[in-house]
Amino acid sequence: MKYGHFNDEDREYVIDTPATPLPWINYLGNEGFFSLISNTGGGYSFYRDAKLRRITRFRYNDVPGDTDGRHYYIQDGCLGRDEVWSPTFLPLKKPLDRWRCRHGMGYTVFEAEKKGLSSTLTCFVPLGENCEVNQLMLENKSAFPKKITVTSALEWCLWNAVDDSTNFQRNFSTGEVEVDGSVIYHKTEYRERRNHYAFYGVNEPLAGFDTSRDAFLGKFNGWDAPQAVFSGKSGNTETHGWSPIASHRVALDLKPGETKSLIFVLGYAELPKAEKWETAPVLMSEASPQGKAGVINKKPAKALLARFDTDEKVKAAFVNLKKYWDALLSRFTVRTGDAKLDRMVNIWNQYQCMVTFNMSRSASYFESGTGRGMGFRDSCQDLLGFVHLIPERARERILDIAAIQMEDGSTWHQYQPLTKCGNADIGGGFNDDPLWLVACTYAYIAETGDSGILNAPVVFNNVEGTEKPLFEHLRRSVNYTITHRGPHGLPLIGRADWNDCLNLNCFSEEPGESFQTTTNKETGVAESVFIAGMFVLYGNQYAELCERFGDKTEGSQIREEVATMKKAVLKDGWDGEWFVRAYDGYGKKVGGNECAEGKIYIEPQGMCVMAGIGTQSGEAKKALRSVKDKLTYKYGTSLLWPCYQNYHLELGEVSSYPPGFKENGGVFCHNNPWVSIAETVVRNADEAFAIYKRTCPAYLEDISDIHRTEPYVYSQMVAGQEAPPANQGEAKNSWLTGTAAWTFVNVSQYLLGVRATHEGLQIDPCLPESFTALSIKRLFRDTEYDITVTRTGAPGMTVDGKSITGTIVPLPAVGAKRVVVEITV
Ligand code: GLC
Ligand code: GLC
Repeated sequence: MKYGHFNDEDREYVIDTPATPLPWINYLGNEGFFSLISNTGGGYSFYRDAKLRRITRFRYNDVPGDTDGRHYYIQDGCLGRDEVWSPTFLPLKKPLDRWRCRHGMGYTVFEAEKKGLSSTLTCFVPLGENCEVNQLMLENKSAFPKKITVTSALEWCLWNAVDDSTNFQRNFSTGEVEVDGSVIYHKTEYRERRNHYAFYGVNEPLAGFDTSRDAFLGKFNGWDAPQAVFSGKSGNTETHGWSPIASHRVALDLKPGETKSLIFVLGYAELPKAEKWETAPVLMSEASPQGKAGVINKKPAKALLARFDTDEKVKAAFVNLKKYWDALLSRFTVRTGDAKLDRMVNIWNQYQCMVTFNMSRSASYFESGTGRGMGFRDSCQDLLGFVHLIPERARERILDIAAIQMEDGSTWHQYQPLTKCGNADIGGGFNDDPLWLVACTYAYIAETGDSGILNAPVVFNNVEGTEKPLFEHLRRSVNYTITHRGPHGLPLIGRADWNDCLNLNCFSEEPGESFQTTTNKETGVAESVFIAGMFVLYGNQYAELCERFGDKTEGSQIREEVATMKKAVLKDGWDGEWFVRAYDGYGKKVGGNECAEGKIYIEPQGMCVMAGIGTQSGEAKKALRSVKDKLTYKYGTSLLWPCYQNYHLELGEVSSYPPGFKENGGVFCHNNPWVSIAETVVRNADEAFAIYKRTCPAYLEDISDIHRTEPYVYSQMVAGQEAPPANQGEAKNSWLTGTAAWTFVNVSQYLLGVRATHEGLQIDPCLPESFTALSIKRLFRDTEYDITVTRTGAPGMTVDGKSITGTIVPLPAVGAKRVVVEITV
């Protein structure tokens, strides 16, 4: 069952009903100001950091769900007093004559109509601006004049989202606002250490306003029945403490056929300390017996509001946003004959990669924005998906990530985007982390040719004065693995490797204890075959960087280390039919046939084959066969089999989940593309593509009722083959997942086969026979590659008419704008 449809031409998903199985959301914003917006107008906004600069309040796991957001109440004077409706459906839940929600690239539009009054609410964050614009167009389609009242409402968050939802003894006393004309300013904590405020304005004179939530809602009411709306009167309240909100009331007359618009703008302003006040707070004195609150400097807010106070200005900003996405997404486009594949590659997968670039794992409808911030490994992997879109920002990101590395090569596991400092609550010790830095740097240089980044000075652990070239950071990453090996010569796992839940050095018996950060059992023995696979893959990439841009001798030393690791994997990391997952703290196999549960894990199969281990000697194909037989089902490839029915002290969080969920045998979508890529390595195009399709949202649109999350983006997890039948195929944790980057790597670089290399653009598709003709456009190092692939059975390649051997198009002459590549397969 579907709840909407794709509109590929406009790059939109059009949702026909508010009653989607879960809120289906979109993201607004590109740089500083961000908003989450659901198909019923829910969500919240923040500036840069969803934890430290939360602008509006949102209650996770609330009942009923998703009722915090931008609220608009439209009262049509021709109807009864209770006939008030919301253009976003929520919070009023009034049935509408017509309704739909269109999620597009960086914007969302709600179209509604009731009894001759139609509304179009367009929400977006203009490029380069710290605000969200909500333009509400109202049209009187009836034959009679209408008197309309529009009431807006949103709830301020007191900046730090954790504090806001915990520290009520303080918070109920700190709230402060100012009202000036049609603009409501939120200035809590501005008197003390904050030099920033938020504001919410509208480009019309007000018929009333409210800033006190209690006064606006009235006793016992929720957002679906505010007293101020249903009594027809705003309280004109200026709140002190409690819960500050912002609500405008605007009255409009609409003649038959007439259209009017209201432009609401939610903004954020930061001021230099010396300029923060228009009038600083006044001390108590004889002249002013009570002292006097300060008046904030509203100049930047007013200037911003003036940039969006007419429909023409809003339209121009909206067109700019569209142009931005046109340009971005034109860097890689395909026509394959399969509409679903095309829409994922050309639109939604790349769009999701940009969202993971901005959000990492911080803010979604499943990530509270207060938890994980930017993950080290997550951000490195995300980069693989967006490096071709925004190479300059990828460069900056690599340098930020490298700055949280320690001198010994280990890394903090996470950092907060605002401070860019490592998160001490989680610490480090995840032994796969350092190697991911090699992966993203290598990909960046292959994409851009900017090997100069290797010389960029970067601090360790954010400590000034410790700068060393990025190259040195990579060296320490690689050496960290070399110097941290266990009894089988395989890398020590530390707190966990990619699988956060395989905690072989934490034996936790206390409920609520952290599986990752409790160090109660430093065995010094537990090893990871997965990291070994990573070392072979990324160690080779590092060696190649040494050979091309550094010290050749070091390159060959690293190649030797890689060869040693490969041997260790084939000796003790091979179980006979598949790769072992790890050795636990007792030196026993994890993910071996001898195990009663968790006999086979997906991660080392994908990673080791991607690294080229066993491709000559046959292990690779065997391992993939085992994945197909044991882990693969209708809705994807499960993480492990058989699932753990019991909690295993020596394995940790993986066995804490019920069978079939999350890391305990769920389809953890992130690692499915590894197996698909691995299938292309052994040239098994049919299975590679089948794996791709099984988790690809566009192919699951028809089962949206089963899948439940948005059919335009990937989710982190789908309940696995051993989950209860009623849950099978059900997805969770949409949007913020490494799946976005890795599936894009898979589909673009391996299935379609278009891969950036140091020597040029490689084109080597691996698709089923049913694909007979492809056309691909790819911007690579400022040259547009116009590629056609035709299936003829006689492989060959011509570049600008000249035939070329191999699969790599050599770098064209400097300044070449366009290269035409014709390929036959
Ligand atoms: C989550 C984490 C990621 C981890 C994965 C597997 O997606 O963000 O870092 O690799 O889970 O546990
Ligand atoms: C990852 C895993 C999740 C685990 C968390 C702990 O997000 O997916 O299951 O609870 O890491 O850090």
